[in-house]
Amino acid sequence: MKETYSIAIDGPAAAGKSTVAKRVAKALNYTYIDTGAMYRAVTYAVIKAGLDPQNEEESITVLPGMTIDLLEDGTVLCNGEDVTKVIRTPLVSGNVSYIAAMKPIRLALVDMQRELANKRSVVMDGRDIGTYVLPDAQVKIFQIASVECRAKRRYDENVSKGIPTSMEDVIEDVKKRDYIDSHRDFAPLKQAEDAIPLDTSEMNIEEVVNAILSIIEEKTGVKA
Ligand code: CDP
Repeated sequence: MKETYSIAIDGPAAAGKSTVAKRVAKALNYTYIDTGAMYRAVTYAVIKAGLDPQNEEESITVLPGMTIDLLEDGTVLCNGEDVTKVIRTPLVSGNVSYIAAMKPIRLALVDMQRELANKRSVVMDGRDIGTYVLPDAQVKIFQIASVECRAKRRYDENVSKGIPTSMEDVIEDVKKRDYIDSHRDFAPLKQAEDAIPLDTSEMNIEEVVNAILSIIEEKTGVKA
């Protein structure tokens, strides 16, 4: 059987992980898995059902029978509904870290993530991929950038997608999520011991993609 590879890209909010992970996956012909979109989809389902996203007992009631599909073109389906756009709105961003701190929700999504990474080569981005979801990933990157840089990138992205936001709100959202994500008890945001840190503050997308592809080639011999 052909050997499969797992590439884990973790890091704080809006570090540009998904843009870069998508391109790296395309260059290698691997499957890209956006785990953040999965936590966002659950958050949306909780809000849509009129439940309190800060209440675990209420929130976990959306789990039984729930389906999340990540299509190749980037479309995200939650229970068959196209939620691609709505999961990026400030309402979902502002609540997702509460949902992501709930252990039963993490366990359910991690099962789906491991299943997706089974038997195929993947580039998976998130917070706990190198530490918890795929601890045996052959390549682990921890992508960082200054808060100012990350907020600017997310602000520009929101503007281009027509999502109304202010720079102040984006800075606050990024800081709040980083705090909750790195202080939760179960599988917090943390650099894996064997991860390679990559500070992308002064790098453009192409430079980051190329840096990661070089690391992958060095570690696995796989060439884009
Ligand atoms: O793209 P951005 O960095 O803004 O966030 P994301 O990757 O879409 O993740 C949204 C939120 O989901 C994060 O702030 C975390 O609370 C949560 N998350 C997580 O806990 N574990 C993951 N593996 C991925 C995301």
